Amino acid sequence: MGCFVPERYGGAGSDYVSYALAVEELSVACAATGVIFSAHASLATWPVLALGTEAQRTRYLPRLASGEWIGCFALSEPNSGSDAGSLRTTARRDGDGYVLNGTKNFITNGPDAALAIVFATLDTTRGNQGLAAFIVETSSPGWEVVRIEEKMGIRGAHSAQLAFTDLRVPRENLLGQEYEGFKVAMKTLDGGRIGIAAQAVGIARAALEDSLAYVQQRRAFGQAIAEFQGTQWRLADMATAVEAARLLTLRAAFLKDRGLPYTKEAAMAKLFAAETAMSLAIQGVQLHGGYGYTREFAAERYFRDAKITEIYEGTSEIQRLVIASQLLREAGAR
Ligand code: CAA
Repeated sequence: MGCFVPERYGGAGSDYVSYALAVEELSVACAATGVIFSAHASLATWPVLALGTEAQRTRYLPRLASGEWIGCFALSEPNSGSDAGSLRTTARRDGDGYVLNGTKNFITNGPDAALAIVFATLDTTRGNQGLAAFIVETSSPGWEVVRIEEKMGIRGAHSAQLAFTDLRVPRENLLGQEYEGFKVAMKTLDGGRIGIAAQAVGIARAALEDSLAYVQQRRAFGQAIAEFQGTQWRLADMATAVEAARLLTLRAAFLKDRGLPYTKEAAMAKLFAAETAMSLAIQGVQLHGGYGYTREFAAERYFRDAKITEIYEGTSEIQRLVIASQLLREAGAR
């Protein structure tokens, strides 16, 4: 759970490339487990490591790295998803801390987390420039899990609605600076998107590997369906897409490890890997024929699990916006 956390804070002292490989490998077997790990590591642990104070790192990283504490990232709200800067949870300064009130939606690990990175507004008139990020211990009075969502896929990962009622956060748990919360969220999501890209690669790989096994065993018209050229061309395209998605993902992780810009590359990886996972999941069901539509085979689970990768941590539409805005910025700077 502490893959890229330095050893001095109890982590494995590895890097983001290793983290992406771990998420992929977990997600081949279980995409729900993949996202539990990914949200914990990239969305809760990474911001403490990269943007926290030394006191915050020392207090929280050993517990997060060991898995003793699970982390979550509370940004989305019932009326604020893609437009993250419009969130309505408030943070009011009060003595030596802040008081939080509001509701969060679709929070992965929400019911299980001991620590949450929570985003709230200090000034509702300032839009995304009014936000602050907080490290919240979920044992604090005023933290409530309202409900756990019934989802189409990744059903083993809890996604919750949370409510905060006069939730006190000490001043030392402010993460970054006041009014800089939106940038904390964006920087964190850049890395989170590499994790979801890796999860999508894992789902796509699982769809491919199961299909490869099935087409050799299933017979039609006197031969294994793997013998048909139509099947072979489909498998070739599926395998090529998995490789391309993986390389985009690992390139983004590599750039992050090197301290180079990677916002555009992470968005490209997430966009391409998510669409690859969905496409391969659909093709996997098709190759399994009627059996692919039943619970007897995992093909239908990949189909349900793949869909969320095109939605969370920024929809495919948002990834395209991020890529285009980076392209235009680069072109303008030339
Ligand atoms: N890194 C650092 N700073 C960044 C940044 C980045 N990647 N992206 C933007 N910023 C900065 C900008 O430079 C700008 O700074 P200045 O004000 O100093 O100029 C500021 O942030 C505002 O930027 P924008 O004007 O581009 O912001 P916007 O309001 O137009 O929004 C957006 C941009 C890309 C659409 C953003 O709102 C976004 O990413 N939305 C999607 C939110 C999302 O991914 N939600 C996922 C929820 S979490 C989840 O799903 C987790 C889970 O449980 C699995």
